[in-house]
This record gives sequence, C-alpha cells and structure tokens, in this order.
Amino acid sequence: MRKIAVQINAGDKIARINPELYGHFAEHLGRCIYNGIYVGEDSPIPNVRGIRTDIVEAFKKIKLPVLRWPGGCFADEYHWKDGVGEKSSRKKMVNTNWGGVTEDNSFGTHEFFDLCEQVGCEPYLAGNLGSGTVQELSEWIEYITFDGVSPMADWRRQNGREKPWKLKYLGIGNENWGCGGNMRPEYYADEYRRYQSFCKNFSGNELFKIACGPSGGDYSWTDKLMSLLSDFHTKAISLHYYTIPDGDWSKKGYATEFTDERYYATIKETLYIDDIITRHCEVMSRHNPQKTIGLIVDEWGCWYEVEKGTNPGFLFQQNTMRDAIVAACNLNIFNKHSDRVIMANLAQAVNVLQSLVLTEGEKMVLTPTYHVFDMYKSHQSGEAVYCHIENQTVGKGAEIPMISCSASVKDGKMTVTLANCSIEDEAEISCGISGFAATSSESTILTEECHAFNDFDSPENVVPKAFNVLLSGDRVSAVLPPCSVVSVILS
Ligand code: AHR
Repeated sequence: MRKIAVQINAGDKIARINPELYGHFAEHLGRCIYNGIYVGEDSPIPNVRGIRTDIVEAFKKIKLPVLRWPGGCFADEYHWKDGVGEKSSRKKMVNTNWGGVTEDNSFGTHEFFDLCEQVGCEPYLAGNLGSGTVQELSEWIEYITFDGVSPMADWRRQNGREKPWKLKYLGIGNENWGCGGNMRPEYYADEYRRYQSFCKNFSGNELFKIACGPSGGDYSWTDKLMSLLSDFHTKAISLHYYTIPDGDWSKKGYATEFTDERYYATIKETLYIDDIITRHCEVMSRHNPQKTIGLIVDEWGCWYEVEKGTNPGFLFQQNTMRDAIVAACNLNIFNKHSDRVIMANLAQAVNVLQSLVLTEGEKMVLTPTYHVFDMYKSHQSGEAVYCHIENQTVGKGAEIPMISCSASVKDGKMTVTLANCSIEDEAEISCGISGFAATSSESTILTEECHAFNDFDSPENVVPKAFNVLLSGDRVSAVLPPCSVVSVILS
C-alpha cells in the first residue's frame, strides 16, 4: 500500500472544459462505419434509416459531444458528391488506405448528419485538401449549410433534405504532412489559406476552421504553421498522437498479450502526451499569446497489432483494462490543458483501434474505454481546477507516476477522477479539498486485472461498480486497488 496525498482547491481554476474534449472519430476504415455504425435500412439489426440503434443509444449515454468524419487518411481521398443521391447509383471507389476494399458510398453526407442528429452531437467534417479541389470543398459547405436557392442547396433538397444542417467544425485536410499529401508546412499553410477563403458562412452558420497541425513531437511544424496563420482564418490546429507500447511501430504487440514491463511502457508512452501538449502550447503561445487559436487532439489512443486472423488494413484490436488506464490518463491530461486544448477525439469510435464499442453481427459490446468515458462525462462543461499530488513512482523500470488525477467544478458539484497506474500496489489516497464544501459523495470504480477485457461471450468482465470513499470534513479518503479508475462526484 502506498500513501498518496492530493490537494484540490476549487478556486485554483484552469479553464472551462469544452464538452468536445470528450469527442470521438469515425472513419471509413475497416468495420467502423459499415457493420459498426451503419448496417443499411434492410438489415435485421435494429436501426433507424440504416444506423444501428444500439450504437446510437451507447453514444447518447456517454453524452458523446462531437464526431469527426469521414477520416483520417480517407478524408483526403473522399469526394463527397459520390456519397449523395440515390444509393444504387452512387459511384464506388477503392479505399486505398484501408485494405483496398470497395467503398460503395452508401454512408455519405445525409447519413452522417442523420447519425449526429440521432446522437445529438456536433458534426466535425474533415475536408479533402490532399486530392480534392477548392470548388469541391466550398460546394460541400454550400450543400450542407445554405438555406437559399443555389445549385448545391437545390440538389440537397432534391436528395431529401429541405432545411440546411448546422456545421461548426471544419478541418481542412488531415495529416497533410503524411497521407494527406506529404506537404511541407509552408506549402500546406498556403493551401490552407486558399481553401479556407472559399468556405463561407452561409445562412447564419458559422464555421470553426481547423488547420492540420503536427504529428507527435514535431514542434517545427507547429512553429512554422503558427507563423503563417492567424486567428482571422484559423480557430484551431490539430495534433495527432498515438500510444504505441515502447514507442516502436515495428513491435506494437497485441492488445491482450503483454508483460508487466510492456504495460508500464504503454502508460509511460501515453503520459508523454502531457509533455507534447505542453511544448506545442508553448510554441503556440509565442505566436498567439491571447489563446484565440485552440489545440485539438483529433486523433489519440492506443495502436496495437491487429487481432490475429483479421484484415491488417482494418485495424481491429481488443480493448483491456490497460486501455482504460490509458483513456483515464489522457482525459485527465486534456482536462489539465483545457485552457488551450478545446477538443480531443479518440481513434476510433467502433471496431477500429482503441474503440468505445465492438460489434459482431447483431452483437455489441462496450469496452473498458467506453466505461471510462461514461465515468468522466460529468467533467463536460465543468471548470477544471488544479490537482496537486505528492506522487510516487511505479513501474518496473518505466518510472511513471502512480496516480493520475483531474478535477472540475460545475453546478455545485466537484468531479474528481483518478487512475491508479500501478498493477501491483494499492494507493491510499488522502485528498484535501478547499474552497468547496462537500456534504455527500457518489463514487464509481472500474478495476480488474490489466489484461481483462469484454467480449461477446462475456460482455461484463470489466464494468463500473459503486465504490466507497470516506468524506470527512474537507478530506476525501479512499483505497484505490491496483489498475483502477475511480470517479468521485462531491456535492
Ligand atoms: O486512425 C487511423 C489513421 O491514423 C488515420 O486515418 C490517420 O489520420 C492516422 O494516421
């Protein structure tokens, strides 16, 4: 048992946590869209206009705030006009990035906006800058948002949607330093400036334009980009950072097979995102000290080898208690950076990488990662406050801090979320609270051995359970078992 002291002062404010920090991402990749989210209207699987009802319900339960689509790398080869109109005459294409499979475009703009309306979340489009045209992107915005008479708005009406949709988040390109065109930052910045000029605000809609930011620790991309863009035409830049155990893409290992050392190496790699965000924020602050340009971590999560016997291009992996710890640590870190980080999107929502949900035919299972999002949802729109931890180090050579923690205050309640990253030791937490008078507490725990996962035969191996903390005056005490995530709501 290790003793850890935590101190939280409700007046020690960071910033409001944008609900979008708890966002998600769905790409035309493997079984994320097709079979995962969309099964078509004629499917025996319960659906509304082809969109799985169980998925919509699962997304609603965690208050999924924003969904990014259609990619990823797929976005820069996606031509939206092929995905509207009569389904049987929609043009087919090769999904060159993901397994070379045929994409029949049966899930397109109308289906995506329908999904967002069913879930009640903000749509976030990734526009095609890599292989598209300025006209194509500007016409997409017109098609979606223009209320008057115009070729695109009229075409939308012919395709069954009278009223325009609202579209806030518009990414212009994806990973344009890589799969989105292998561009240099100078070239991308010029292209971004040109493309965004023709993405207009129609009919009261206001676009929030997002430029393609860096990969991981590429601070020079951020520096160059920030020097060439301004808050006049850019509201945020994106960051992609994946957790690869040991940081070695050639030895990722499997989701369910790992040693203790690898477990700790994975957590160490995930915690590194804190340094990465801090350093990108420092660079951004040199160019934009007023913080009017946000940072959006629109791809994050664990990336392992695909499950044995599955298509390598489909990126299907299981999800264990290790992933739950990863999710908890990342979300705590994002909360801490909520003054600059205004959105984050886990990769990806269904059946791809660190999924929220896995499906097989009509079966669906919620992953440990899903449960973390459920336990953390009360942070959404809260005021993040600092947690001061007298931490200890754990981890068979990895030397990582044992406890990850974040806290926020909203509507007279304080939410405190903690992860015990040790897989050996209990943590005896003694947490002082000041500036907030708590008289009652409600707590939930997610804990299991680190290899535990949910599958279709045993969907409830890893599920949240009620947990007891001791609230005495201005102190909350609890013993966190090894490998556990805890959420405490004080009121
Ligand atoms: O999420 C899978 C892929 O990872 C995305 O398509 C791409 O943007 C990133 O490299």
